[in-house]
Amino acid sequence: MTPTRALTSALMLSAFAASAAFPAACGGASSTPANPAPNDGLSVAARNCRDDLALTAAECTAVLGLALPDTLPPARGNKYGDDPNAVELGFRMFFDARFSNVPDLRCATCHLPEKAFDDALAVSHGKVVLTRNSPTILTAAWMQSYFWDGRADSLWSQPLFAFENANEMDFTRLELAHTLYVSPYRTKYETLFGPMPNLTDTARFPARGIPGDAVFDAMADADKDAVERIAANVGKSLEAYMRKVAVGQAPLDRYLLGDRAAISEYEKKGLSTFVKAKCINCHSGPAFSDGKYYDMKVPVLPGAAADPGRAGGVGVLSLNVFNAQGPYYDHDGSPPPASVPASVATDPTQMGAFRTPTLRHVASTAPYGHNGFYPTLDAVLAQHGDVALDAEQKNSIMVFLLSLVGTYPSRPWSDWPAR
Ligand code: HEC
Ligand code: HEC
Repeated sequence: MTPTRALTSALMLSAFAASAAFPAACGGASSTPANPAPNDGLSVAARNCRDDLALTAAECTAVLGLALPDTLPPARGNKYGDDPNAVELGFRMFFDARFSNVPDLRCATCHLPEKAFDDALAVSHGKVVLTRNSPTILTAAWMQSYFWDGRADSLWSQPLFAFENANEMDFTRLELAHTLYVSPYRTKYETLFGPMPNLTDTARFPARGIPGDAVFDAMADADKDAVERIAANVGKSLEAYMRKVAVGQAPLDRYLLGDRAAISEYEKKGLSTFVKAKCINCHSGPAFSDGKYYDMKVPVLPGAAADPGRAGGVGVLSLNVFNAQGPYYDHDGSPPPASVPASVATDPTQMGAFRTPTLRHVASTAPYGHNGFYPTLDAVLAQHGDVALDAEQKNSIMVFLLSLVGTYPSRPWSDWPAR
């Protein structure tokens, strides 16, 4: 059986088990089957979960939900998400420091292909030292929203924030358009997205600017739209590339397909503790993230201002012309992510709350926390969550977390392009 079909049937059976068969088998209300083990309606993986991990049916449903399917979810709002030309364009741009006003700074500086697409720093260094830790992008394709504060609701609308952050790459959408226009990538861009406007006309298209700058605001609406369309298309190409560096299945996923020997007895103990300690309440689903925001009381770095987290991200998201309600979001018939109510900005639980991060590949993404406060996993677990862990539980969780290493994305995508 191919992994796809095995996983599909494992998931189907687990859903079946959760709804009907499992309670019947467990409660034993009316008819006890003659041979309970093979006729309990459970998938092999669900039975392994029950027998190996001593978890309830509901807990096993959550455990099976951690399995990484081997096809990516659709690229939301991006009809170029799987286009090979877009992949190639995004690949080139991800590694090209021309699209930044900081010497030698490119996406890959903070998302290094040789460092799990992270930078191994507590907080990243752009034009100046930033205030947040750079997340790995190995699981970006699985996430529902982006950044620690969720200010981007699609993967394609994320990159422009990096380009235009004055402390980070210090670029502008006008510079993005001009630089692309004179770059070797223009042909590829135009093959994909159609002709670029005449950007040599600097009366219509000034050299640098974003909304709020007098020169940008003075442009004709159609020209602003043309520039923003280019910025959106660049983001869509970068998403297409980032989908190529999605991490593959880890030993845990093989276990969740029914291969009982794929993880060690001690890792099983760690998985069981991970569930019992309620880590899975937030670190759930294929990316080990529920996509929600919590204040986990991570200490503020010495000398830093308190970070508003989600409460601050909401306003930025709602004003962004590239959000899912905006004109650049491609509709494919499925409903776009709903707009986030403005009340979130004043919800006290969302002040200082950050999106649950992935735990896949966590072995290589230290330091941890939105501000990189914790140098090690040990330091995170010493004060994270509500459940007090004894040394043995902590150790087993740690061994489990360290095992969440999937197959690394393949070349050429996981390496620097030849230049
Ligand atoms: C100077 C370092 C730096 C550069 C350059 C940089 N990033 Fe990031 N990246 C970060 C940091 C820090 C965050 C988290 C920021 C936040 O949450 O506010 C981040 C977040 C992200 C995320 C969100 C991941 C998640 O799980 O939410 C993606 C995707 C990403 N960057 C891709 C890119 C792309 C594409 C580029 C180039 C256009 C880029 N980055 C340039 C540091 C950088
Ligand atoms: C209430 C939801 C919730 C629960 C329960 C929870 N976490 Fe987290 N976890 C988060 C959030 C949110 C963060 C990011 C916090 C921040 O940086 O402000 C995080 C961060 C982490 C990190 C750091 C990852 C990184 O890349 O920075 C690890 C490791 C982690 N959690 C493991 C666990 C384990 C193990 C448990 C169970 C003992 C657990 N979590 C329980 C929500 C939760």
